Amino acid sequence: ADGATVPALVIGSGYGGSVAALRLAEAGVDVHMIEMGKAWDTPGPDGKIFANTTSPDVRSYWLRTRTKQPISNFLGFPLDKNVPRHTGILDAEEFGGIIVYQGRGVGGGSLVNGGMAVTPRRENFGAVLPTVDAGEMYGTYYPRANAGLGVATIDPDWFETAECYQYARVGRKHAQRSGFGFVFVPDVYDWDYMEKEQAGTVPKSALAGEILYGNNHGKNSLQQTYLARARATGRVTVSPLHRATSVIPAAGGGYTVTIDRIDTEGTTTTTKSVTADKVFFAAGSVGTSKLLVALKATGALPRLNGEIGKGWGDNGNVMCGRANHMWDATGKLQSSIPTAGIDNWAAGGAFAEVAPLPTGIETYASFYLSITKNPHRAEFTWNAAAQRAELNWQTAWKQPSIDAAKTIFDRINAKEGTIYRTDLFGTYKIWGDHLTYHPLGGAVLGKATDNYGRLQGYSGLYVIDGALIPGNTSVNPFVTIAALAERNIDKIIATDL
Ligand code: FDA
Repeated sequence: ADGATVPALVIGSGYGGSVAALRLAEAGVDVHMIEMGKAWDTPGPDGKIFANTTSPDVRSYWLRTRTKQPISNFLGFPLDKNVPRHTGILDAEEFGGIIVYQGRGVGGGSLVNGGMAVTPRRENFGAVLPTVDAGEMYGTYYPRANAGLGVATIDPDWFETAECYQYARVGRKHAQRSGFGFVFVPDVYDWDYMEKEQAGTVPKSALAGEILYGNNHGKNSLQQTYLARARATGRVTVSPLHRATSVIPAAGGGYTVTIDRIDTEGTTTTTKSVTADKVFFAAGSVGTSKLLVALKATGALPRLNGEIGKGWGDNGNVMCGRANHMWDATGKLQSSIPTAGIDNWAAGGAFAEVAPLPTGIETYASFYLSITKNPHRAEFTWNAAAQRAELNWQTAWKQPSIDAAKTIFDRINAKEGTIYRTDLFGTYKIWGDHLTYHPLGGAVLGKATDNYGRLQGYSGLYVIDGALIPGNTSVNPFVTIAALAERNIDKIIATDL
């Protein structure tokens, strides 16, 4: 309510925010979470909460009037279509040189992502978070996060026979024939449920092509895991369709947070203020960075240091497809949940997910999202004239990612006598180099904050999301975001409460 006072306010309900809320509540602290997206707990007119990937609708995009599908074309034909403007689930946020995809709603990115839950190889961890004790992370916090998220690996026997993973078995064959390491990728999807989907005994989600705009069944998003446990403590309340716009020191201590209540067309209906002893920035790498650069530049929090907005990276994301021979069909039925990857990180700086292309028809295509060792880092700055934060990423900065991905796919193409697909991202365009699913950084640990996410210059203000991680995790990021949040909140509870 307007004018309320709360012990802890969490801005954003993704991984960082959900971990913080649960652990604070368990420590006896009342927590209020605000989330600018919808609750995603009510079915639409079709009886389903979430829209299918093959037929995006009003629910699918955040405040756009036309879809912006990551795979924009098929056989050269554009796929995008008009939709009503709505606080939909997937934000395709456009900056100068990159589109950053993000989840919007209670559960953040966990609502839209593929659920791939990967712990980086320990030998790569020093490059991911150089100031963090790896022993503690691998001994305590990665296991805690994996357990809390419900991470599990596919039954390898079932994998060998499941029709819906023919595309992944073709991916394995091609990887191994070219001498690359092939690994199973753990996921938060309920594998028993997926086996029942394949057997035809339950309503289909992964096998109906659901992903990107939400999964109606099977996927353990944060709504089913951390947030459910947080709510069960009785100490956590969540306000959807509430957007934080300002945080300033309050006269009597703590911070006053200004919050816009928005309707489902994105229009502000009321503005409230809430005062909190402690404020946790968990709006995601982009959301937290945008807020902090604005607060520093406009004089709300002038003592934030010069590292605010810096160290942002795209986790080296780049996509491509390959055209297989007719004897390497990838299957009409493809599980939308990827379960395998090609590891060429040590030699070539690339880890490639073998991704589905669930079109419902045989495409003879293999599709991949590569995570690569891209050295470029961008910065958010405040444009006072336009009253908005901008990001200086350049499209050409993807070239090192393309080069790294080519260490895998040029070799596979040479070995198999195959070529790249050129019809998925436009006409005659091989590389999906215009986007990222994995924004990281902008308020980097040990730089904009201390080594536990405490913002420099203001006690009681914390960053606890992907903004802490300096641009790359060598694998899919959410397990690392959750594990780092577990580590930091442990310290904060022990010493700051
Ligand atoms: P996250 O983005 O999850 O949450 C931030 C929340 O804050 C959002 O709900 C947002 O609406 C809200 N917010 C923002 N500004 C606000 C404001 N001013 N006021 C109130 N609320 C605000 N990762 C992975 O490990 N495996 C995978 O398989 C995938 N796959 C994947 C697919 C797709 C399509 C996407 C878009 C992303 C992935 N990811 C992924 C990435 C993963 O989802 C991402 O790294 C995490 O969700 C980031 O977690 P955070 O806690 O940092 O923020």
